[in-house]
Amino acid sequence: MSKLTIFEHPLITHKLTLARDENTGMRDFRALVNEIGGLMAYEITRDLPVKEVTVKTPICETKAFVLAKELVIVPILRAGIGMVDGIHNLIPTAKIGHIGMYRDEVTLEPHEYYAKFPKEMPESSVLLVDPMIATGGSVLMAIDALKKRGAKDIRLVGLVAAPEGIKRILEKHPDVDIYLAALDEKLNEVGYIVPGLGDCGDRLFGTK
Ligand code: PRP
Ligand code: URA
Repeated sequence: MSKLTIFEHPLITHKLTLARDENTGMRDFRALVNEIGGLMAYEITRDLPVKEVTVKTPICETKAFVLAKELVIVPILRAGIGMVDGIHNLIPTAKIGHIGMYRDEVTLEPHEYYAKFPKEMPESSVLLVDPMIATGGSVLMAIDALKKRGAKDIRLVGLVAAPEGIKRILEKHPDVDIYLAALDEKLNEVGYIVPGLGDCGDRLFGTK
């Protein structure tokens, strides 16, 4: 049974409000999206397994703990890239896979155009990152691609989602835990999240 977590941390809420503001420019928007990614990753990785090692401090040898499992970050291009640095700063040993998707503007169907993953997918915890989960089509296709490569521990990291998309993902992939900064009201008639934050890729990269 998958778990849906919506973060109610004041820092995340505050930064998301600034990101939603249409007057927030590209530079601040990109910084905010990255910062939220980092704050979310801190919580999402809380239950990662650790293993005991021996470390020699300047004083003596002691038993200590390090992460026991590899971590792979997989952004859905383009907008997913916006959260990667924030997460990678926390876990610099994480490998990064990429999956390219675009949504047909009329049908809203996703199309995969690129995929490259590290070979450690089956034994890793995989953070699938997409700031915007609207119909859920892009994420569903990306999860299928990850599972095809053997990924078993998949955690979906989103900024803002519509209930319609989350419902589809929960139904199709009950083994994938979902973490969001906010669950918004609905989709509008052209498939945008309401109230949302507009087109995330365009706001990150200045392509509007
Ligand atoms: C956006 C967004 C998600 C997708 C969400 O990407 O980043 O990947 O739409 O929509 P869905 O849940 O209905 O599939 P877009 O296709 O606009 O591509 P971009 O990131 O390259 O701008
Ligand atoms: N993609 C976006 O960037 N924003 C939305 O609201 C929906 C899909």
